[in-house]
Amino acid sequence: MKSQLCDMLGIEFPLFAFSHCRDVVVAVSRAGGFGVLGATGHDPRSIRTELKWIDEHIGGKPYGLDILVPENMATAGERGVTYNSLKSRVPTEHQDFARSLLAGAGVELAPVEASDDRPQPFDPETALRTLEAAFDHPIKLIANALGVPPPQMIEMGRAHGVPVAALVGAKEHAIRQVSAGVDILVAQGTEAGGHCGEVTTMVLIPEVLKAIKPIREVPVLAAGGIMNGRQMAACMAMGAAGAWTGSVWLATRESETSEIFREKMIEASSRDAVRVKTRTGKPARQLRSAWTEAWERSPQSPGALPMPLMSLVSEAALRSVNRAAEAGNPKAREMVTYFVGQGVGLIDSVRSAGQVVQEFKEEFLEAIESLNGLVEA
Ligand SMILES: Cc1cc2nc3c(=O)[nH]c(=O)nc-3n(C[C@H](O)[C@H](O)[C@H](O)COP(=O)(O)O)c2cc1C
Repeated sequence: MKSQLCDMLGIEFPLFAFSHCRDVVVAVSRAGGFGVLGATGHDPRSIRTELKWIDEHIGGKPYGLDILVPENMATAGERGVTYNSLKSRVPTEHQDFARSLLAGAGVELAPVEASDDRPQPFDPETALRTLEAAFDHPIKLIANALGVPPPQMIEMGRAHGVPVAALVGAKEHAIRQVSAGVDILVAQGTEAGGHCGEVTTMVLIPEVLKAIKPIREVPVLAAGGIMNGRQMAACMAMGAAGAWTGSVWLATRESETSEIFREKMIEASSRDAVRVKTRTGKPARQLRSAWTEAWERSPQSPGALPMPLMSLVSEAALRSVNRAAEAGNPKAREMVTYFVGQGVGLIDSVRSAGQVVQEFKEEFLEAIESLNGLVEA
């Protein structure tokens, strides 16, 4: 495909795959798309290991890195916040509620033994150090979510000649991001898996394009609910420069998802992807399960804590839940959940990531040909 964005990144087909799994990143880039590794949870040492592996397997194809530096969170402005120092700020009622849910399912909460230097979840200083380390590798794009990227991130991108992308869920955010100097916008509709806003992809794309036109026109990628090439063509017909996807890769053989979660995705409908705060403290779309239902609906639920405190409660508990589910505990299976978007309703099988890219390309061409056919008729 010929486009400014394809030339900028050296890709054949503007299908972007966000994944926490290096195997997906490699498979997508090798197949002509663009893999983006989610680096949240990494530190400089672990990212070097991941990127070294990617460099050895990706055959010289381009790839990117996504970090998450929240502009607003409970510990904003504090320095050196560690996992252990944050623990004391978690109210006992939240710990007790999590423990009681697990006990009701016969699951024991495995304690988290964190080293004293382990940073808080979503730690901004760690994210920037991780990014710095990543620049020892040939990354071709850096992306940030949950706010305007910190100035150091934009400066690092400029210094290395690497475009900086930002995820936005509302046109007001797009205006702020373009004014701050980002090079690519990912307009992510509410359908999306993970943190998301309230506006649909269908409305957000034209809204963002219109809002940034008088300021600076940068390529806008469409995200949220895109599971096939026909949807990608529809977004590009609206003016998007490509598609940024996440959920579709969860149902690939290369992904990090468990067998149980894959089965649950195949069983689920689009309405089973719920947008709730009780996993991270900010609205994030994930699969409805006995865990999400209890936090959202039980009269005993203490509700969400702000980011990053909520993750201390949910991540440890859900790790124990996953382990118990895998050991055959049916009540734990009911609680299993993970981030996924409304597109989960379209998931009916598990395929290889390369096959998904190939099918996107074929469906994209079919969509264009069928529309052209309407004009010619
Ligand atoms: C499991 C999962 C984890 C995600 N984690 C992040 C993240 O750490 N950083 C980020 O920028 N986006 C994250 N996202 C959002 C994706 O980047 C992407 O915008 C979204 O998945 C697009 O919508 P879709 O899921 O409908 O394809 C995540 C999405 C999923 C499904």
